[in-house]
Amino acid sequence: MQPFLNREPTLRVTTQPNDANPGGDIFGGWLMSKIDIAGAVAAGRRAKGAVVTVAVKELRFIKPIYVYDLVSFYVDIVAVGKTSITVKVDVFSQRDRGVHDDAPILVSDATLVYVAVSKPGVPREVPVE
Ligand SMILES: CC(C)(COP(=O)(O)OP(=O)(O)OC[C@H]1O[C@@H](n2cnc3c(N)ncnc32)[C@H](O)[C@@H]1OP(=O)(O)O)[C@@H](O)C(=O)NCCC(=O)NCCS
Repeated sequence: MQPFLNREPTLRVTTQPNDANPGGDIFGGWLMSKIDIAGAVAAGRRAKGAVVTVAVKELRFIKPIYVYDLVSFYVDIVAVGKTSITVKVDVFSQRDRGVHDDAPILVSDATLVYVAVSKPGVPREVPVE
């Protein structure tokens, strides 16, 4: 996969010192939160409205992320059900501390399921595209 060559990420952010573990790499909960946000942005666009996360099917931490990495979240919709949308999130990190021209490294990936809702707790059908 060469995501940087042909599209913009759904979310891109530079990590900060207060996102780090005592060991100096980035806290897993920070990454999980950003993965959920990126997935929800894509699912919400497809659902044309509010979605909630119903399941995290798999989440892999593949390589560490460091402070001041530029982290990009690419989201693909892999399935659409009656009310649910399943997405794959691929997370790439650039360890250039701001130069932005080094090779992105796959650091994490995840599959999540969102449900379109008309209000909290009430599913609605995903509209036809
Ligand atoms: C999401 C929620 C509205 C679903 O309500 P529900 O009454 O359980 O609805 P259903 O059982 O009909 O499930 C809705 C869809 O989710 C899917 N789903 C439910 N649980 C799932 C799971 N663990 N994994 C994958 N898909 C799941 C169902 O298959 C269904 O998909 P489909 O309509 O495309 O066939 C409800 O469970 C809820 O509000 N959960 C809390 C969400 C939340 O607080 N998230 C965190 C903050 S965003």
